[in-house]
Amino acid sequence: MTDSPVTFVNQAAVCRITVNRPDKLNALNAATLDALLAAFEAAAGDAATRVVVLTGAGEKAFVAGADIAEMAGLRPTEGRDFSQRGQRLMRRIETLPKPVIAMVNGFALGGGLELAMACHLRIASDTAKLGQPEINLGLIPGFGGTQRLLRLAGRAATLELCLLGAPIDAARALHLGIVNRVVAGADLEAETMRIAEQLARSAPLALRGVLDTVNTGGECGIEEGLQYETAQFGLMFSTDDMREGTKAFLERRKPVFTGR
Ligand code: COA
Repeated sequence: MTDSPVTFVNQAAVCRITVNRPDKLNALNAATLDALLAAFEAAAGDAATRVVVLTGAGEKAFVAGADIAEMAGLRPTEGRDFSQRGQRLMRRIETLPKPVIAMVNGFALGGGLELAMACHLRIASDTAKLGQPEINLGLIPGFGGTQRLLRLAGRAATLELCLLGAPIDAARALHLGIVNRVVAGADLEAETMRIAEQLARSAPLALRGVLDTVNTGGECGIEEGLQYETAQFGLMFSTDDMREGTKAFLERRKPVFTGR
């Protein structure tokens, strides 16, 4: 690991981005937010990358929140700017045209849970603890937590987590729909990579179609959402991958998708 607050390595079609401040439990300061944004921009623009896995360095934390030491002295306009900086990153991740998996290897608190919720899938270690503890600092979530948690887990869970501030364990997060899967810590890496490799073999344009359609549908009425789905569905018929996928099924073989 280098001194950079974020590292990324490409393993074939999977790009792994790691928040790398383990001595501060990977807390998100402004430099880390900027480095993450640059890493996700690079992953978005790299045609060889089909899937991104996001995790935190060290044994204890995915990300333990926005950097409290950095926030402590901010003035209101600086606090607003910090919130916007975080929200811009989260939105970039959420709207990335390729799937992003959060590998939640420990504490995912405050900005850490907000970061995980901006990803498309969340695989958590059974030892992970998740929550929005900002209330304990006299704050509220500022990187989209009130909005994404509401959409992911509903009003009751959002108000409970944000008002009480107590972390929940991975099993409860699964029950509330905040994470997709919980696995033993020793299996987290293998299970996450198994899912990443499956996605890497899938048809990239269809994956993008799902991401775009779900993102759009989450923000509009049913009629508009259905129309968007129809337009995306129709678009798939222009791809080589759709011809290959249907042909391979009929020929009883595995498809080979090229992203065209
Ligand atoms: N911002 C800045 N630094 C943080 C941090 C954060 N969100 N979370 C942890 N750290 C730092 C600690 O200050 C400590 O640094 P130090 O060794 O220089 O003193 C280091 O990370 C280790 O954390 P520590 O508190 O000693 O570990 P722990 O195992 O006793 O407790 C937590 C772990 C996650 C329970 C605790 O660190 C914590 O409550 N963190 C803040 C969570 C939070 O409120 N997040 C939302 C922020 S808006």
